[in-house]
Amino acid sequence: MSEQPVIAVLVSGSGSNLQAILDASLRGEIPCRVGIVISNKPEAYGLERARKHGIPTEVVRHTDFPSREAFDRKLVETIRGSGAALVCLAGFMRVLTPVFVRAFPNRILNIHPALLPSFPGTHGPKQALEYGVRFSGCTVHFLDEGVDSGPIVVQAAVPVYDDDTEESLAARILVQEHRIYPMAIRLFFQGRLKIEGRRVRIEGEPRIPEFFHRNPDA
Ligand code: GRF
Repeated sequence: MSEQPVIAVLVSGSGSNLQAILDASLRGEIPCRVGIVISNKPEAYGLERARKHGIPTEVVRHTDFPSREAFDRKLVETIRGSGAALVCLAGFMRVLTPVFVRAFPNRILNIHPALLPSFPGTHGPKQALEYGVRFSGCTVHFLDEGVDSGPIVVQAAVPVYDDDTEESLAARILVQEHRIYPMAIRLFFQGRLKIEGRRVRIEGEPRIPEFFHRNPDA
C-alpha cells in the first residue's frame, strides 16, 4: 500500500476540530494522516491530543518573532519539513500574512464558526446572536490573503434559538464543524474540489450542502 499523504494541523486552543480529524483518520474516513500539529501556544490542549496519538508536535511562539512575517516564515519552514500536502487551520488564532498564504497556494483550509461572509473575525457566535439571525453555522474555506474571505468549500447551518447563549450556540455550531472539516479534507484529497474564481465546485456531489439539514438538533 502506498504511504498516505500527510496534513499539518495548526491549533491555538482546545483542538476539538483536530480531534475530529484524528478520529476520522483513524476510522479511515479521510485518505491522509496528521503528520504534525503546530501551536503558537505551548499550553494549547490540542498539543496534548496530538501527543496522545503519538503525533509529532511543534510550538512556534509568535511572541518569539520580531514580525508577523518572521513568525510565518518559521511556520512555513516547519510545515515544509513535515512534508504536509495540506495545511489545516483548526482554531489557530493568528492572522497569517501573504508569506504564509503564498507558500501553500490552494493548500490551506480554515474553519470558521459562522456562515461566511457573515460574521468574520474572532466572535462568530456572539455576533450572530447580537445581530439576531435565525440561522448560523460554520464554514470551511480555502485561505486567501484576507480575513475569513477565501473560497468556500462546505458550510453547515444550525438554528439559533431565543434562549441561546453564546456558549450554547457555539457548542451547536461545533458539532457541525466536526462533521464538515473531515468532509472537506476528504474531498480535497479525492481531488474533487475545483476552484473556479470565488466558487468551489465539488465534483460528483453538486448538492452537498443539503446533507446538513438531516441533523438539525445535533
Ligand atoms: C472553532 O469554533 C473554530 O471554528 C474556530 O475556533 C474554534 C476552535 O475550536 N476557528 P477547537 O480548538 O477546534 O476546539
